[in-house]
Amino acid sequence: MAPFLYLLLLASSLIPVYAQDQPTDQSSMSLVITQDGLDFVKDLLVNEAISSMIPLRLPNMEKTVKIPLVGNAFMMLSNITIYRIDVPSSNMKPREDGISILASGTTCILSMNWYYSYSTWLVPVEISDEGTASVQVEDMDIGLTLGMENQEGSLKLALKDTRCDIKDISIKLDGGASWLYQGMVDAFEGQIGSRVDNAITKKLEDGISRLDSFFQKLPKEISVNNDTSLNVTLVGDPLLSDSSIGFGVNGLFTGRNVDVPKYWLKNPKLSVSCTNSSKMLGIALDEAVFNSASSLFYNAKFMHWVVDKIPDQSLLNTAGWRFIVPQLYKKYPNRDMNLNISLSSPPAVEFSNHKAKANIFADLTIDVMEGDEVIPVACITLVIRASGSVKINGNNLAGTIGLDDFAMSLKWSNVGNLRMYLIQPIVWTLIQTVALPYANSHLSKGFPLPIIHGFTLQNAEIILSSSRVTVCSDVVFAEPHKLILKSLAYLV
Ligand SMILES: *[C@@H]1O[C@H](CO)[C@@H](O)[C@H](O)[C@H]1NC(C)=O
Ligand SMILES: *[C@@H]1O[C@H](CO)[C@@H](O)[C@H](O)[C@H]1NC(C)=O
Ligand SMILES: *[C@@H]1O[C@H](CO)[C@@H](O)[C@H](O)[C@H]1NC(C)=O
Ligand SMILES: *[C@@H]1O[C@H](CO)[C@@H](O)[C@H](O)[C@H]1NC(C)=O
Ligand SMILES: *[C@@H]1O[C@H](CO)[C@@H](O)[C@H](O)[C@H]1NC(C)=O
Repeated sequence: MAPFLYLLLLASSLIPVYAQDQPTDQSSMSLVITQDGLDFVKDLLVNEAISSMIPLRLPNMEKTVKIPLVGNAFMMLSNITIYRIDVPSSNMKPREDGISILASGTTCILSMNWYYSYSTWLVPVEISDEGTASVQVEDMDIGLTLGMENQEGSLKLALKDTRCDIKDISIKLDGGASWLYQGMVDAFEGQIGSRVDNAITKKLEDGISRLDSFFQKLPKEISVNNDTSLNVTLVGDPLLSDSSIGFGVNGLFTGRNVDVPKYWLKNPKLSVSCTNSSKMLGIALDEAVFNSASSLFYNAKFMHWVVDKIPDQSLLNTAGWRFIVPQLYKKYPNRDMNLNISLSSPPAVEFSNHKAKANIFADLTIDVMEGDEVIPVACITLVIRASGSVKINGNNLAGTIGLDDFAMSLKWSNVGNLRMYLIQPIVWTLIQTVALPYANSHLSKGFPLPIIHGFTLQNAEIILSSSRVTVCSDVVFAEPHKLILKSLAYLV
């Protein structure tokens, strides 16, 4: 069975709007991450970053310090390790020049070994001691600003500034002489602060550059099937508002061996509006997305279908039509038949408030088999009106359609006039029992929305409005994706 309704793969409403030349900077999909979405991403970043950053080893520190009554003492800190980082509060906010991420009140706990030695003229042998210490770097504000731009259709991240303000360092020594504590504080307090600052800043830089290369490597096309993909190339720079980041995506279907007509978008400035503002993510799809799929499958000759099996097989022999089209039986007695359904234009899908509608124009040719020869005997023009529902299946936008009504008229006939009222129930049955179930089996799989691998839509709501579909959803981080985790890992 050639997939005649494969088209509908996408669901529902297509009115192709042909254009001479399509502005290349138009996007037929818009994606918005709301403040709730940013908070979710931020928590993920912070948690993943901390768990992969620690233990973080810092270089040894040494210094000779003049200690009252002792003289010059050589002091060293070794095996300096940050083994715990607590971030009590953090936020991620879009700003004019990028996204700012701030982790405030952060505490870093370090462990280390201390050692000192000195000699005085009083005691001719060298005196030394060693022990462990723990250091708390407290009330640290770690902030960064991340610039974002479109670089050749991919998201380019640039670290614009990082800062790490340390308010307090507390040092606790296990053992040691009484003068040691003050000596250590004087010698190393500042240095510990700047080492922690440097180490964290360096990790942030590494993390951002990994995250950047992760985004650079994201595919610009998502494969829908062997020959068809969805173009998810980023269009235009990200749009930053007070509480959201928006991205434009080309969003049209492309075929390897087929040309897709160009479209004017119904919504040249496609904005995302969710009724529930607490959803993390909104994706708006212009009708053009569906139109491009419809045209693509139409041009790929997927919308031509020869039916040689139907539930009531007797209707595929002229004997079954004996009383419906007597002339057919008379001319070709007891011959097998085919029904050739061929869409005469790409299905036109239309969205309006709460509704998805599809208009399908098809020619149904009745063929008689004469040996190896296929003889077309009559052709009926069908206008099928279907309405659909759109749903989420995993990360795919899927749907189902049902028959609203259909109209039919005779296009031509070699077997005299056909009595349409007799044929109509047969066509109705054909549509209901063969065509729609077949279309729905494809539609129910749907096509993938541009969601980064590892994230899954949850509690999605679908809003159908004039010439667009909007998906408003939360996301969960389902199966940890190694690549992104590795990138995220270095961010605090
Ligand atoms: C270095 O520090 C780690 C973690 O604090 C500890 O497990 C290890 O034993 C220390 N090594 C030495 C040589 O003290
Ligand atoms: C996809 O391509 C592979 C190999 O080229 C082929 O075996 C498979 O049947 C194709 N699938 C479809 C759905 O066309
Ligand atoms: C994908 O979209 C981009 C941006 O609109 C466009 O430049 C590119 O030509 C498209 N690719 C294909 C294969 O259509
Ligand atoms: C809005 O979305 C949030 C998050 O998915 C959900 O918890 C809440 O119940 C929704 N509110 C309404 C009125 O649907
Ligand atoms: C089916 O009908 C269309 C015209 O409606 C025709 O172009 C096509 O060749 C026919 N296909 C077969 C297999 O008969």
